[in-house]
Amino acid sequence: MTLPTQEQVTEKLRAVIDPELRRNIVELGMVRAIDIAEDGRVGVIVSLTTPGCPIRSHFQKAVVENVSQLEGVTSVAVEFDVLSDEERSRLQQTLGRNRLPEGALAQVKNVICVASGKGGVGKSTMTANLAAALAAEGASAGALDADVYGYSIPRMLGVEGRPDVNAQRKIIPLEGPAGVKVMSIGFFIEPNAAVVWRGPMLHKAIQQFLEDVDWGELDYLLIDLPPGTGDVSMTLAQLLPQAKFAIVTTPQPAAQTVARRAAEMANKVDLEVLGVIENMSGFTTPDGQRFTIFGEGGGQLLADELDVPLLGKVPLSEDLRSHADNGNPLVLENPNDPASVAIRQAARGILAATPQALPVVQPAPAPIAAGNGNGSVSGTELPVIQ
Ligand SMILES: Nc1ncnc2c1ncn2[C@@H]1O[C@H](COP(=O)(O)OP(=O)(O)OP(=O)(O)O)[C@@H](O)[C@H]1O
Ligand SMILES: [Mg+2]
Repeated sequence: MTLPTQEQVTEKLRAVIDPELRRNIVELGMVRAIDIAEDGRVGVIVSLTTPGCPIRSHFQKAVVENVSQLEGVTSVAVEFDVLSDEERSRLQQTLGRNRLPEGALAQVKNVICVASGKGGVGKSTMTANLAAALAAEGASAGALDADVYGYSIPRMLGVEGRPDVNAQRKIIPLEGPAGVKVMSIGFFIEPNAAVVWRGPMLHKAIQQFLEDVDWGELDYLLIDLPPGTGDVSMTLAQLLPQAKFAIVTTPQPAAQTVARRAAEMANKVDLEVLGVIENMSGFTTPDGQRFTIFGEGGGQLLADELDVPLLGKVPLSEDLRSHADNGNPLVLENPNDPASVAIRQAARGILAATPQALPVVQPAPAPIAAGNGNGSVSGTELPVIQ
């Protein structure tokens, strides 16, 4: 008689899902032992998170059902024990990497951080126009300005005002062109006032923008990151382990080295890079002459190096700049401008590369330790959620 192997039994156990954690018991480290006897009897020990685990009978049934499908199995016996404290905290850690904040972001399907290695390459312009382009493609989109010191999204999307708070004490984002939901620190401070918070305050602000804003149902939440690879990006990665990065770079091959830093950071915090957008990619005069003012090829080089798609090459365009300055995204005002065409193409690339179904939402995450290390946040309260 052919007996199944340990691997075959393990494979079958991957079909046994913990309904609360929505992952299989192998992945969760809950399979303590598999014993295959000569006569085809298989014993499986499943480790529960708590002794009185209410889903014990579900596991019992699912393990028997799946393992008995294997050839050579004559019977399946399931026994239970309990994870040790150490194992439980390890599981907690694994889960911690796969949670979206509950509540406010529970209905956001895709979070995309727009990042770059250095400032001024057009992250904010891309965030604003991509959000508008995604909305124009029929997706629901939001734009979160995570550049707390140098916020620019309200201006670029032409939204101002002070957001209201709903009955659940969540902040209601303001709506920009094409129905893009916008949230920025700029809505809460006096015009042109400088933001002078330190690390823990920044962390708290970003956390509030993610957890205390009523984002509602969104296909895409685009996050405009500050330049560089500092604190804010780390905070976001901690809060949004399922987010993806779109990296903006300029075309000179030397910029690729700088932009790579953003990719390295994404890698360090375990976030996937969705693609590269090359911005300021050549300038074409009205009579059709093309000048490659900032060089050429950097976007493609970086995309190749990271093995991700080049989502678009957005040319230099005075109209792109002036429309951003005036709060009317060019992709909506003039969708046929070469810069708009390139951004709309990038938006379609994002649509093609991202899931259209809701991600699995896990139970509420443990409180996240702020920069001061003890989990509490010091300093002045943000002027939100009073
Ligand atoms: N393709 C383009 N053609 C012309 N001007 C552009 C283009 N992309 C961006 N700009 C302009 O370049 C300037 C910098 O762009 P933007 O503010 O989007 O960059 P950023 O990467 O967000 O900068 P920061 O790092 O300071 O946040 C803006 O004035 C913007 O209008
Ligand atoms: Mg910016």
